[in-house]
Amino acid sequence: MKTAIFAHRGASGYSPENTMPAFQLAYEMGTDGIETDVQLTKDGIPVLIHDEQVKRTTNGRGYIKDLTFEEVKRLDAGSWFSSRFTGASIPSLEEFLEWIEDKPLYLNIELKNNKIEYSNLEAIVYDMVLRYGLQQHCTLSTFNPESIKKIKKIGTSISAALLTSKAEVNPVTFAGNLGADAIHIKYRLFDESVVKEGKTKGMPVRVYTVNKSAHILRCLKLQADGIFTDLPDKAIEQRQSFYN
Ligand code: G3P
Ligand code: MG
Repeated sequence: MKTAIFAHRGASGYSPENTMPAFQLAYEMGTDGIETDVQLTKDGIPVLIHDEQVKRTTNGRGYIKDLTFEEVKRLDAGSWFSSRFTGASIPSLEEFLEWIEDKPLYLNIELKNNKIEYSNLEAIVYDMVLRYGLQQHCTLSTFNPESIKKIKKIGTSISAALLTSKAEVNPVTFAGNLGADAIHIKYRLFDESVVKEGKTKGMPVRVYTVNKSAHILRCLKLQADGIFTDLPDKAIEQRQSFYN
C-alpha cells in the first residue's frame, strides 16, 4: 500500500496552521488526509489549535481553557502568518467536520491532552465524529497513554493512535498494550524495525513531521503507512515520481 499523505495542521507550510484556509489549500493540493489538533474552551467547545495558549498563532493572550468560545472566535488566527490571511479564525471542530463531511479525505484529530487534562475531551470528540458519520475515515491520536485507554473504553468505532516522541523499548508493543490501533512516531525514531513490527502486529505506522525531501523518500522506501507533512504538494509530487 502507498504511503498516505496527511497535511499537518493543514497545508501549514503555506498558510496559517489549523485554519480553514490551510485545510482548504491542502484539499486543493490533493492531500489524502488532514491532521489537526483539538482543545476545549472554557465553556467546553472543541476548537482546533495546536498550543495550549493562543499567543503564538493569534492576536490574543491566554489559555484556550480560560477563554469562552465567543472570545476564541473573536481572535485573528491568520495575520501572524501573513496579512493575506487576516480575519481567519480558530475553527471549531464542528465547523471542520461540516467542511470535511462530503470530501474524500481521511482525518486525524489529535487530542491535545498531554499537558492539560481536558475533562471529557475524548467523549466530546468521539461523539461528534460519530454524529457526522465519519468514524470510518477518522483516527483519534494522543501523546497521553491514559487517553488511549479512555477512547477504547468509549467504543471501537473509531481508531486510536498513540503518538510517541520517546524512545520506548518497543513503541509498537507499548502502543498495542494500551489498546491503540496505530502508532504515530516522530521521524527521528522511525526505522525499519518499527515498520517490521507494525506489519507483524497489523498496526499502521505513521511518521511526523516529515518535510525534507530525503526524509520523505526514506519513509516511502521503508513503506511507512503514512506521513504528516507541512508541505503536502511536495510530498505528493515526490510520491508520484517514486512509484513511477
Ligand atoms: O499528529 C502528528 C503531530 O502533529 C504531533 O505533534 O506537536 O505537531 O502536534 P504536534
Ligand atoms: Mg498535531
